[in-house]
Amino acid sequence: MRSACVIGWPVEHSRSPAIHTYWLKQYKIDGSYRAEAVPPEEFAAFLKSFAARGYSGANVTLPHKEEALRLADSADAAAQAIGAANTLWLDEAGKLHASNTDAYGFMTNLEQQAPGWNDKKRPVVVLGAGGAARAVLHGLIEAGAGKILLLNRSRDRAEALTKSFGRKIEVNDWSQRTDVLAGTGLLVNTTSLGMIGKPRLDLDLAVLPKDAVVADIVYNPLETHLLAAARARGNRAVDGLGMLLYQAVPGFERWFGVRPEVTPELRKQVAMTLGRQ
Ligand SMILES: NC(=O)c1ccc[n+]([C@@H]2O[C@H](COP(=O)([O-])OP(=O)(O)OC[C@H]3O[C@@H](n4cnc5c(N)ncnc54)[C@H](OP(=O)(O)O)[C@@H]3O)[C@@H](O)[C@H]2O)c1
Repeated sequence: MRSACVIGWPVEHSRSPAIHTYWLKQYKIDGSYRAEAVPPEEFAAFLKSFAARGYSGANVTLPHKEEALRLADSADAAAQAIGAANTLWLDEAGKLHASNTDAYGFMTNLEQQAPGWNDKKRPVVVLGAGGAARAVLHGLIEAGAGKILLLNRSRDRAEALTKSFGRKIEVNDWSQRTDVLAGTGLLVNTTSLGMIGKPRLDLDLAVLPKDAVVADIVYNPLETHLLAAARARGNRAVDGLGMLLYQAVPGFERWFGVRPEVTPELRKQVAMTLGRQ
């Protein structure tokens, strides 16, 4: 039997067990997937005892993503560019490999939900410069998006990202977040605003072109105020649950040997565990 887990602190909120156990059942695989609550000071020791605990792979969530990259024996290009790992696996020689599948998850979902989003002549607006923003920026740049306007409450964090991701990114002031929407083809919220327990994202969509795509990576609630406002005025809206489901695909394939499908039934099952705005 093969086993994998999600390692976080806290970890109870993670939807990864629901996703992976659904697929294990679906594909009749003799395997297990558990949640492991591991405090930061115990993370390195936990990884050392990974094989002894019977694990061949893991997802890593907050606050361990950067440390996972640092501790792995090797990391793929995405994990290196993003500066964090969310997927780990042991090879037969006992070496620990790291990947980051968040950019893959975001981009695959965007392609599925909003085909043709990539109008290179129009700028993309990205709000937020935290950990998730790094994955979104990496994905957009790899996909050949046009100019990216990056806005974050703490401007210095956005400026720091331009150093990692280059000149395609232009930092604008957070106070400009409404004005920059004129002429944009894609707006992405990567801040935690709009999430259950957080304030709403205060953003007026009045000047946003009606054919622009609006993506929110917040997935709890599934329908954020931003997505509801976008849909109400006729914009295509892409929710964060798809990103969460697609980022899980490469890990499951790596650990259990089957490339799983993201189906409407899986979406329904996971959506049932989410709250309302
Ligand atoms: N769908 C998925 O698969 C997926 C994957 C990863 C993350 N997420 C979601 O993405 C969100 C961000 O995650 P993260 O890991 O990037 O978090 P993070 O590193 O803590 O970054 C939080 C971001 O939100 C901004 N922010 C927080 N409170 C704000 C406020 N009151 N006003 C303006 N900006 C504010 C922060 O700005 P400052 O820099 O100024 O603090 C920062 O840009 C979370 O809701 C998370 O659940 C979804």
